[in-house]
Order: sequence, then C-alpha cells, then structure tokens
Amino acid sequence: MKHEAYIRGIGYYAPEKVLTNADLEKIVETSDEWITTRTGIKERHIAAPGEAVSDMSAAAAKAALVDAGMDADELTHIFLYTVTPDFYTPSAACLMEEKLGIRHKVVQDVNAACTGYIYGLEMARAVLALHPEAKVLVAAAEVLTSRTNWADRRTCVLFGDAAAAAVVTSEESGAQARIMDTRLSSDGSLGHLLTIKGGGSGHPYKLGDAVDEDFFLQMNGPEVFKHAVRSMAAICEELMTAQGLGNDDIVLFIPHQANWRIMEAVAKKLSLPVDKVMSTVARFGNTSASTVGIALVEARTAGRLPAGGKVLLGAFGGGFTWGSALLQF
Ligand code: UT7
Repeated sequence: MKHEAYIRGIGYYAPEKVLTNADLEKIVETSDEWITTRTGIKERHIAAPGEAVSDMSAAAAKAALVDAGMDADELTHIFLYTVTPDFYTPSAACLMEEKLGIRHKVVQDVNAACTGYIYGLEMARAVLALHPEAKVLVAAAEVLTSRTNWADRRTCVLFGDAAAAAVVTSEESGAQARIMDTRLSSDGSLGHLLTIKGGGSGHPYKLGDAVDEDFFLQMNGPEVFKHAVRSMAAICEELMTAQGLGNDDIVLFIPHQANWRIMEAVAKKLSLPVDKVMSTVARFGNTSASTVGIALVEARTAGRLPAGGKVLLGAFGGGFTWGSALLQF
C-alpha cells in the first residue's frame, strides 16, 4: 500500500537584527540602487552573536509544531538541512534535539545547500513509505553570515540568516497540504562555482594558520545565475509534465529566493505570469536552504494558498543541487 505524505505544520524563525542595503553601503563599495536592481534584496536578517543554526532551527521547529498541534516528543525523525552547522560534531540536529527537550529520535544534518528544504520533503516521503507511523521534522537553517566575507561586495550583499521547518506525516486528517510529487538532481562537476572550502578535510587548517578567503563563501555569480535559471526551470517542467499539469493549474510558484531576476526568468521559461511568483527576497535576502520554507509560511499569511490549489516549489544551490516539489492545499 502506498502511503501519502502530508504537511501538517510549517513555521520559520528569523533573527531580530536587520541589515539594510543602507547599512551595507557603509561596509563595502555598493549602493542600494545596485543591490535592488540586480537582486531585488532590500534587507536581510542577521544572527545575534552566539546564535547558531541549532538555536534557529529549534525556534522554527517549535513554530511548525505549534502549527501542527503536536508536541516535540511526538517526532520520530529530524532532518536538518544546512551548510553552516554549529560544529563538525556534534551535529546541529543533535544539538537541536536537545534544545527541543527530546531524545532518542533519528536525527541528522544533511547538506543539499539551497535545495535543502525540497530535498527534505522527498526524504520525508521516503521515510513515510518505510515507516507510515513516523512523524518527520524537516528543518532548513543557515547562519551564512558566519561564512560571509564582508570585504567581498560580490557576495556579502546577498545572504541572510534564518530557519524554516515543516512537520510531515502520513495522516490526511488535520493536514494542510499533500506532497503530490518531488524531483531532485545534482551535478558535482560544477561544484567549484559556489564553495565554502576552508576548514574541511579537503582544505584543512593547521594550528596557527590564519583564516583566508577560502574560509568564506565564494561564488561565480554570473555562472551560477545561468545554471540556476536553466536547471530550476527544467526540473519544474519535468514535474509538471509528469503530473500532466499546465501552467494554468499552478496557483502559486515558490522558487528559491536568491535573486528576483532569477525567479522572474524561471517563471518566464515556465510561462507562469509573475503575479503567480511568491517573493520574500526583498525582506530576507538569500537564506539558502530555508528560503522556500519561509516563503511558504509568508504565502499562507498573505492568503495565497487556497484550498485545493496546487503550489509548485523550485530550488537550486551549491553542489550543484536542484529540485522541485508539488503541493496540493
Ligand atoms: O543561492 C545559491 C544560488 N546563488 C545564486 O543563485 C546567485 C546567482 N547570481 C546572481 O544572483 C548574480 O550573478 C549576482 C547578484 C551575484 C551578481 O549580479 P550580476 O548581474 O551577475 O553582476 P556581475 O557579477 O556580472 O557584476 C557586474 C558588475 C561588476 O562590475 P564591472 O566588472 O562590470 O565593472 C561587479 O564588480 O557589478 C559589480 N558589482 C557590484 N557593484 C556594486 C558586483 N557586486 C557589486 C555590489 N555593488 N555589491
């Protein structure tokens, strides 16, 4: 018997501190005009000193659990998608479990970069196929500012910190949306175009070494832009074709929130009008794995998830990884 996967609750957390484009003008040679026209970003949230991925993902998880009407102890699995975990070990998922006051769950960190939330939805579907009674928490959290080079204007204006979470179960009763389908992909041969290398086993530091540029996020922006548009559009199209859906069947498209120009270009390739594209990029910037989850909550708040409506999610990020998901509310 095939078990369906349903989203029962969603939530997000964004740190209190907001860094505006005007603030960035004081840090690097940039302008509100450049950032706005090239990316659509106006401001982003920044973690407080000492605030780590496990803190933010626990806060997002609590919001999703309240939304689901569930206690943390009911969870059986936690998948935490991040490229900026608190430490190498213990995992941020273990630290998050402790912060939720629970124990003895199946927990792990996973790195699928900006595609994390969508990878998580497929992992939840897979777990529920094996264990229909499971209650899976998918969390996606980043403190990208811990790996931001504030001297590099090509990257430091783009990113923000935040976390999102979803509770996924096989129960239809009380559910908000059915995960109709998911598609995932990757291409490691292009990984060098977006990296955070320093401190990894492939790029170790010795005691006393100074931190250098490789410690921080580095990106070939224009190349990533091209691949993001092409791959996100292709994998969304693949999913729509597999489901026999045309663009009129989609009530809302929620793409990864990296850059408004990318979102607009993907929508154009899919023949979706821009008024069907959900955008939170102006307020949060690119928060990597968590962007799609944040935009989903914001879409609901804005009344953009009508009952029965089919919502398309798409993402692309480091690795490269990319994916799409189709939800029915
Ligand atoms: O989340 C993972 C996926 N990441 C993405 O999807 C990001 C993909 N890439 C992008 O969104 C865009 O490539 C960027 C927003 C990163 C850059 O936009 P662009 O239109 O591709 O600009 P560019 O890198 O080609 O730079 C154009 C010019 C350059 O000056 P010159 O060489 O033409 O004189 C840059 O030096 O803009 C300059 N520039 C800036 N100027 C003011 C680059 N960054 C800035 C800045 N402020 N912050």
